[in-house]
Amino acid sequence: MNKTVLIFPAGMPRALDYLQKCLQEKQAVIGASSLGYDASRQKYPAWLYLPYVTDSAFNEALKQAVVEFNIGEIYTPNIVVWDHLNCILESLLPGVKLVNASPVDEVLGGYRSAMAKARYLVANPLALSSKMPPHHPLSIIETAGLIRYADLIPGMCDDDKFRALLEITRYSVEGDIVEVGSWWGKSAFILSRLARSFGIGKLLCVDPWANEHLIQNEKTVDSSSAQVDANEALEIFQIGLLPFNADHINYLRLPSVDAAKSYANSRSVSTEEFGDTEYTGQISILHIDGNHTYDAAKADVDSWEKFVVGGGWIIIDDYIWPYGDGPKRVGNEFLKNNAARIVTAFVMGTALFIQLSL
Ligand SMILES: C[S@@+](CC[C@H](N)C(=O)[O-])C[C@H]1O[C@@H](n2cnc3c(N)ncnc32)[C@H](O)[C@@H]1O
Repeated sequence: MNKTVLIFPAGMPRALDYLQKCLQEKQAVIGASSLGYDASRQKYPAWLYLPYVTDSAFNEALKQAVVEFNIGEIYTPNIVVWDHLNCILESLLPGVKLVNASPVDEVLGGYRSAMAKARYLVANPLALSSKMPPHHPLSIIETAGLIRYADLIPGMCDDDKFRALLEITRYSVEGDIVEVGSWWGKSAFILSRLARSFGIGKLLCVDPWANEHLIQNEKTVDSSSAQVDANEALEIFQIGLLPFNADHINYLRLPSVDAAKSYANSRSVSTEEFGDTEYTGQISILHIDGNHTYDAAKADVDSWEKFVVGGGWIIIDDYIWPYGDGPKRVGNEFLKNNAARIVTAFVMGTALFIQLSL
């Protein structure tokens, strides 16, 4: 018979997350608490009371519970409980295992890896040639903060692209940052923070957030896109970006061609969540990451590149893309047709970065 997992204390948020995992995996589970009444009790299929670990009766009560409820594993998100169990389990209840690593390591893991990445990035900046004097680079702590919060937002921005964004924004003129294709908001978040750090300008996110615009005429991509919900994606975008808005972020829920017409006609964008934002009408950084069919990527570049000022950057994401060559063809055409006004161009990660001459 399958052993039961004990979750104790059962009401903490990570305890409840672990309960969900157990229930999904049809793992027998029992919750425990030292409170006389614990509101999380009704969420558990089975329940027991345990004294606080500091109570001399705790070890004996746990021993009895293990026998009575056939407990083989214990999950605890509480640091003090974890430390106590880690000290006593082997001698008190050989065979009963703590299933999680130290809660300190669990909660700090994301911060520690952000610090490690930040140390590397700050020590190894991308060497860019430019006529423009760069802004002072972000500190290790600033970079780690950016990485940590970006990690919490789902999306498609790989480490190499992040590294390039960190650097090109230091060499940016002032003006609006426009992102075509924001979805859950990962790259938008990164751009919005870098825009603030380097005083570049305000971020305008352009995305229809509509499932029909996800179709890229590639069977596998289209079938996975059909399983995501565009309304939910917009909510996730808002959740991730709103707390960091300092009157410098807004969005147009439109396909890029329509949004470009609106941008040409009006400098103001208003949404219920982000309020009113005034843009300059001149783009310092244009990030193209919308639909990747050739026609769509070409329409995105054609509609927006005319607003990019001298010294501004155009980023064409997924220039290297395993599912098609739309962005690559559009990028190559742009390079060929605009050679005289391009000062720098390089591919980093999967994106093409182009800087126009001043
Ligand atoms: C690859 S996702 C963007 C990922 C995002 N930049 C990130 O880093 O996480 C592509 C996005 O393009 C959007 N899109 C599709 N057609 C578009 C169009 N015509 N104009 C603007 N955005 C479009 C989709 O709704 C989707 O949100």
